[in-house]
Order: sequence, then C-alpha cells, then structure tokens
Amino acid sequence: MSNVTNSDCEANFPRKVVLITGASSGMGKATVEFLSKNDFIIYAGTRHVEGLQAIKQNNIIPITLDITNQSSINQAIDTIYEKHHRIDILINNAGYGLVSTVENLVEEQMQMQFNVNVFGVLRVCKSIIPIMRKQESGIIINISSFLGKIGLPLLTLYNSSKYAVEGITDSLRHELKDFNIRVHSIMPGFFDTKFARDNLVTNLETFDKNSPYSKLVSNLAPVIVDQINNGNDAIEVAQMILEIINNDKFSARATVGDKAKKFIPMRKELSDEDFERKVIEYYGL
Ligand SMILES: NC(=O)c1ccc[n+]([C@@H]2O[C@H](COP(=O)([O-])OP(=O)(O)OC[C@H]3O[C@@H](n4cnc5c(N)ncnc54)[C@H](OP(=O)(O)O)[C@@H]3O)[C@@H](O)[C@H]2O)c1
Repeated sequence: MSNVTNSDCEANFPRKVVLITGASSGMGKATVEFLSKNDFIIYAGTRHVEGLQAIKQNNIIPITLDITNQSSINQAIDTIYEKHHRIDILINNAGYGLVSTVENLVEEQMQMQFNVNVFGVLRVCKSIIPIMRKQESGIIINISSFLGKIGLPLLTLYNSSKYAVEGITDSLRHELKDFNIRVHSIMPGFFDTKFARDNLVTNLETFDKNSPYSKLVSNLAPVIVDQINNGNDAIEVAQMILEIINNDKFSARATVGDKAKKFIPMRKELSDEDFERKVIEYYGL
C-alpha cells in the first residue's frame, strides 16, 4: 500500500495553474472543459460566475473577472496566487466584435472595442507577468483572429483590435523570452460560438436602411454572420491551445479553422495588392 497522499503529489508535481478570460461560452468554455480532462487547475474567468456553476468541479474554478476593470483583475489574480503561489498559463480569450462604419463610430463604442479586445489583454498580461517572471516560467496565449491580418469594411474597429493583438504577441515575445515566458497567438477562422448571436455590437446608423452604406451592409453583414454561425467547432481551438502548451518549441502563431487556413497562407505568399484582390473576390466587395 502506498503512503503517498494527494497533497504529497501536488507538492512534488504541482498541476499547472491556468487562467482563461471570457470563459462562459464559445472557445473559452470549450477550452476550460477540454483542459480539465488533462492535468490542469483551471480558473475560468468570467463577468458572470453564476453562468459557470454547472461546469464547476475540483479542477474547474469559476472566478469573477472583468478585464476592463483593474481591481477585478487584481482580485482574481490575488485569489489564485494566494492559493497556488503560481500562475503557469494565461489564455487571453475574452473579446467581442463591433460592426460599424468608421463614419458612424460612436466614441463609447470605439473606446469599448479597444478597451476589451486590446487594453483588456494588456491589463491582464501586465498583472500576471510579474508572477511568471518571479517563477521563471509561463505561457501566454492570445486569441486573436484571422481578421488580425485582413482588412474588411464594417469591421475596421474589430479587425484593427485583432491586428493590435498580433502586435502585442510579437513584441511581448521579445520582451519576455529571457524570463522563460512564451507568448503565442491563435488566429481562428470563423467559429460557431455565441459570437455572432450575442456578442456582435451593431451601430444603429450603419444598419439604418437609409444609410449610404446600406448596400454594403445588406451584402456583407449576413454573409459574415452566416459564416460565423456555420463555422468550425470551438473544440479545435481548445485542442490547439493544448498543443501549444505541450510544445515549448511551438511557433509564434497558429491558425485554426477553415477560413484561417484559407486566408493566412495567402496573406504570407501574395503581395498586398494580390491579397486584397482575393479578399474583394471572395467577399464580393
Ligand atoms: N467566433 C468566431 O468566429 C471568432 C473568430 C476569430 C476570433 N474570435 C475571437 O475568439 C474569442 C472568443 O470568442 P468566441 O467566438 O468564443 O465568442 P463568445 O462565445 O461570444 O465568447 C466571448 C467571451 O468573451 C467575453 N466578452 C464578450 N464581450 C465582452 C465584453 N464586452 N467585455 C468583457 N468580456 C467580454 C465573454 O465572457 P464572459 O461573459 O464570460 O465574461 C464571452 O464569453 C474572442 O476574442 C473573439 O474575438 C472569434
């Protein structure tokens, strides 16, 4: 009979502690559930913990986290650190999309898009990096988008927020490599999540039937929504996250899903002009 207890094992081989943002649905929730079948302790960050009670178990801990609020971030991180004295993996997943022409942008809508998708990522990184630096290891995975490498009308704010996430990844990789902290981005194509159903914010003037952009809106918006709602399964993102975690030689960024696999290689291989022509043809712009 073995005298080794669970807490002995925990002390000698601590399970990796993961924090994921925006965990209540889509890719976030799929990742929480997928990683929980492996040897991780997962803190599922969400603005509404009550929505995650159903998946709570001993290695899935829902935690209140609003990435637009620094004290909410501090509170979540302090809670995790006090219990485990480490945070091994951060997955910056929370995000949403604003659909608006630039001409119609409302100041608060514009600020909020970057507040969540860009400054939210930076705030959580800023707060966790000192912990990872002290423990001399860490992995940060940013969920960006294939739209972080493509311009599309009506999505200028969303796409530019994801271009920014790509820039954050590239710069942070250099800044943190001497501390044994890896930084990656995942560029998903379109995925069937709550994104188009609940988390697309539409600008009323852009969607007004008398808008000068009404032809563009009626041609493009349903196509994008349809492609998202018929997109890939979020589990593919979760599987990619595990692959990145398990491979310390993994490259800076990964593409997942049909649309990303279609456009990202083209983006690399074609000139800007030829790539733009492909996007015009594909989306009938
Ligand atoms: N679905 C796609 O086609 C697609 C494609 C490429 C990239 N992405 C990116 O993938 C990530 C996950 O999206 P998803 O497709 O899984 O969509 P989702 O099901 O809508 O989940 C997004 C999560 O982000 C959080 N969130 C949404 N709006 C927020 C706000 N205003 N403030 C703070 N948090 C907010 C929510 O978390 P809580 O409610 O739990 O706080 C929500 O669960 C996002 O960054 C998205 O931009 C999605």
